Amino acid sequence: MVMVVAAAAASLCAAPLLIGGSSAEPPAAGEGADGELSFPQSGRPLRQVSPFFLSLTIDANLATDPRYITFLGSTKLRTLARGLSPGFLRFGGTKTDFLIFDPKKEPTSEEEFFLDLLAKQDAENVCGISSPPLDVIELLQSQWPFQEMLILREQHKHKHKNTTITRSTVDILYNFARCADLQLIFGLNALLRKANSQWDSSNAEFILNYTDSQNYTLSWELGNEPNSFRHKSGIYIDGFQLGKDFIRLRQLLNNYSHYRTAKLYGPDVGQPRKHTQKLLRRFLKSGGKVIDSVTWHHYYVNGRTATREDFLSPDILDTFITAVKEELQLVDEIAPGKQVWLGETSSAYGGGAPQLSNTYVADKLGLSAQLGIDVVMRQVLFGAGSYHLVDASFEPLPDYWLSLLYKKLVGTKVLKVNVAGQDPRKLRVYLHCTNEHHPKYKDGDVTLFALNLYNTTKRLQLPAYFSSKHIDEYILLPHGKEGVLSMSVQLNGHVLKMLDDETLPALSEKPLSPGSRLGLPAFSYGFYVIKNAKVRACI
Ligand SMILES: *[C@@H]1O[C@H](CO)[C@@H](O)[C@H](O)[C@H]1NC(C)=O
Ligand SMILES: *[C@@H]1O[C@H](CO)[C@@H](O)[C@H](O)[C@H]1NC(C)=O
Ligand SMILES: *[C@@H]1O[C@H](CO)[C@@H](O)[C@H](O)[C@H]1NC(C)=O
Ligand SMILES: *[C@@H]1O[C@H](CO)[C@@H](O)[C@H](O)[C@H]1NC(C)=O
Ligand SMILES: *[C@@H]1O[C@H](CO)[C@@H](O)[C@H](O)[C@H]1NC(C)=O
Repeated sequence: MVMVVAAAAASLCAAPLLIGGSSAEPPAAGEGADGELSFPQSGRPLRQVSPFFLSLTIDANLATDPRYITFLGSTKLRTLARGLSPGFLRFGGTKTDFLIFDPKKEPTSEEEFFLDLLAKQDAENVCGISSPPLDVIELLQSQWPFQEMLILREQHKHKHKNTTITRSTVDILYNFARCADLQLIFGLNALLRKANSQWDSSNAEFILNYTDSQNYTLSWELGNEPNSFRHKSGIYIDGFQLGKDFIRLRQLLNNYSHYRTAKLYGPDVGQPRKHTQKLLRRFLKSGGKVIDSVTWHHYYVNGRTATREDFLSPDILDTFITAVKEELQLVDEIAPGKQVWLGETSSAYGGGAPQLSNTYVADKLGLSAQLGIDVVMRQVLFGAGSYHLVDASFEPLPDYWLSLLYKKLVGTKVLKVNVAGQDPRKLRVYLHCTNEHHPKYKDGDVTLFALNLYNTTKRLQLPAYFSSKHIDEYILLPHGKEGVLSMSVQLNGHVLKMLDDETLPALSEKPLSPGSRLGLPAFSYGFYVIKNAKVRACI
């Protein structure tokens, strides 16, 4: 059942109707379609993903200098994060294994500003606070490019320094997640080791003692990409030992009233390679029983060397299918029944082609849900590097709008869909029940999302039994002269912008009349909600 995409990909298609050449005018309405969709109106969903399917990360490197955690006090950033709830907020990344908690250290003056504001709030209204003073944020923003350079340099050279974090760092992070309605997953440092190479849990205990005393509800991870520990720190940790360290952490969690039932996720390995798979295998054998989900990370290509062509290639998109299958197979063999999550992922287009990266993220979400991944944590909401959803001035980027649209329109139940008449690797389609929490849509409605990697407009036709249904179309296109390189996007022709720091714009549909073809411009993707569809699996 899980093979729909691969199966569709194998049946490489019939002669395309399109005549090669320029991406000129779409054919006039009423003419034949380029691709015919088929999906059943009855039958069960293929599978169901978590309501937190699309989740977010904040890279732990934001705490490289803990002053910058104060960014998380920004009202605008909170509004943007809240737009993507419900979901997890994972605080993790390479820096996870270089953060040391000091329960006695005082907050930085920037953190203090924010905490003072927090302290003045009444307990009922901790999220009603205003941002830290604008000048504090502005000063940090003006210094951020330099800080970002330091972070990236540390990353590229694999020379990581330890950083001390304080109670305030944890408070600000927790408050951000809570006020954005996201569940915080906190990554603990796994590189703190005793002489016998066992994990030294004493620093974790300091953190747990503190968060427990504050009644913080959290889930936990231990370490980030342990497959490259040697590279990053010179310390080699075998998968079997890491599994035992997770057992130790589980026992420790069981000692706290707030964490007895807290979830533990791991081991956050990199994508499948021989030595990484060996580590994961050994890890699952010893520690598999104490983790609630198996997490791994995936990036398509090296962002620094990828070309624009790489990003339009269905072959590269399809490498993800192979990776997911390898991962699922391994987990199924050693820890059958465990959920598998993408604990950190993005498109990794470092060159800054937002619209392309966007297309890739959309495809990854579609494939993940279909193939058997339950949660996808999108790296990163905000922070250093080039994968962020929100830029250094807290302005949302194209990937943010895509994520928001996905969150609002796409539900947890995954349906089967096929496209005929075109190469399904270049015209990629996904179908879910519509998000049941969307105020405008009803049970039984379905959301189709489609990506067009052809260089001409493609027109899709719904199955005949939907020909009387009204359809809401949502097409995101780059806005401005830079085309696919543009940082701004329009939805159905309207540029997307926040109305103010506390208000996201409405995501307005374009109603199509029944029987319309779904016209998808070159290199773009669109969402289509079929209203009143009465699809059995979605009722
Ligand atoms: C579109 O793609 C086709 C085949 O991949 C190619 O021959 C053609 O030159 C392309 N057209 C444009 C306008 O890029
Ligand atoms: C970080 O601190 C730990 C514990 O003190 C120490 O073992 C480790 O060598 C330090 N790492 C670096 C990169 O300084
Ligand atoms: C954590 O709290 C417990 C119970 O109060 C205490 O026994 C323990 O020493 C504390 N751990 C650390 C590392 O301070
Ligand atoms: C934590 O919860 C307990 C019990 O509800 C309460 O007495 C205590 O004041 C809370 N602690 C904080 C820091 O909110
Ligand atoms: C949990 O608490 C018990 C009783 O205080 C203690 O004996 C045990 O060592 C603790 N377990 C861990 C893993 O810290």
